[in-house]
Amino acid sequence: MSAPREHFGSRIGFILAAAGSAVGIGNLVSFPVAATKSGGGAFLLVYALFVFLICLPVMMAELALGRKSDKDPVGAYRQLSGGSRLWRIPGWMALITPFMIAVFYMVVTVWVLGYLVEIFKGNLTGLTTEAYFGAFINSNAVFVYLIALMIIINGVLAMGVKDGIERAAKTLMPILFVMLLILVLFVLTRENAVLGLKYYLIPDFAKISPEVVSKAMAQAFFSLSLGMGIMITYGSYMKKRDSIPGSAKAVALTDTLVAFTAGLLILPSIFHFNPQIDPATLSDSSAGMIFLFLPKIFLSLQDSIGYIGASIVAATFFFLVLVAALTSLVSIIEVPVATLRDERGMSRKKAIYAIAAVQLVLAIACAMSFGMSGPLTELISIGGANKSFFDLVEILFYDTILPLNGFLVCIFVIYKWKKANLDRELQEGDSSFAGSLSQKYVNFALGTFIPAILLLVFINTVLLKFFNTSLLNLI
Ligand code: TRP
Repeated sequence: MSAPREHFGSRIGFILAAAGSAVGIGNLVSFPVAATKSGGGAFLLVYALFVFLICLPVMMAELALGRKSDKDPVGAYRQLSGGSRLWRIPGWMALITPFMIAVFYMVVTVWVLGYLVEIFKGNLTGLTTEAYFGAFINSNAVFVYLIALMIIINGVLAMGVKDGIERAAKTLMPILFVMLLILVLFVLTRENAVLGLKYYLIPDFAKISPEVVSKAMAQAFFSLSLGMGIMITYGSYMKKRDSIPGSAKAVALTDTLVAFTAGLLILPSIFHFNPQIDPATLSDSSAGMIFLFLPKIFLSLQDSIGYIGASIVAATFFFLVLVAALTSLVSIIEVPVATLRDERGMSRKKAIYAIAAVQLVLAIACAMSFGMSGPLTELISIGGANKSFFDLVEILFYDTILPLNGFLVCIFVIYKWKKANLDRELQEGDSSFAGSLSQKYVNFALGTFIPAILLLVFINTVLLKFFNTSLLNLI
């Protein structure tokens, strides 16, 4: 007989763990840059609308699926579909997606860890050249850091939901909030900081094109840990007496606030470094920003606060990114762990070892696809360009499949599991939900325009990534 299901100890514990999952490298880096390039305040507005009108209901649906079934994603789809063969597919997708995202995300996190260690060693100057990055990601040090990272993450997971995941989130997330605020306050006192704020905040509605809208939508969905099976799994650890709508709102709000606040840090730093910079020239890739651009910015602070001061700021920032990435990784690896436990009856430890073994091999393959291994570096041609194994994993699982998973969640919840059941689960622990406007909205939107939008985003991404075109070009 297996042990009773683990639960989060408190509502705030759940909220911090789920927010820890949602807050990641994207919030801290890609979001602010995307906002600045795509209309500043206008982008922020569109983004916020997507978060609360489109993504929040999906989060509620995922949490409800998990809590009702008390299972991992595979088990949740199986149980709530009454064992339908067809509906097994999204269950498996909600397992493979997080598994593969974890592999790719671990490699980026390893680089963050490596950079942080270098800053501690006093080597901030060394990090500011492009050659350094290329040499670092192809050095054997990467494998050492990978092992260290896996020990940390799996160590947290081994302690379980309450003593591992929840405790880590309750310790790390407040540190993240405080450090972020301190950095923002510091940066805002720098010269030309206001210029950055202008670009970030002043709305330019002329920049809001269909591409920008679709980018905002994809970013919002991805930032909230949706379509990754995470919220289904975390939902299964929620207590019946806790409100799903209320907790989901708190998670969405925290995630959005952190992303917004990160912009108050990144943009002023960039403009302090170079007041003449044209934001359009900033790199779209988070990796480009973090490893090639930001170290230069931090180093430039030495003119006013000295080398040690600049190193402290840089170390604080890299530590923030590391914490954000760690809590995301913990949440995403918990999905396959939960699946092996629920579906195969494995113990937590055994499940962790099994998953870590496979992920280690795949992560090494990813890490070697930047030149160390020729075949992995030029694995496949997609949309006319050679892509590495790392790129392939990113494109398939990070960029493309999430909105499809989200679409399937909506269709499943409303048309297979049925509206009334969703409704009942959302009211459990939240008596104020019954009869509320939110309830009417969620019931209607999840069965109509939300899945329609997610399907469009999915189709558009496939066209963009694989065929170098977009829906707009086809119309
Ligand atoms: N919000 C994350 C980011 O900004 C994306 C993300 C959400 C994620 N959940 C995750 C990444 C789980 C890795 C694992 O990067």
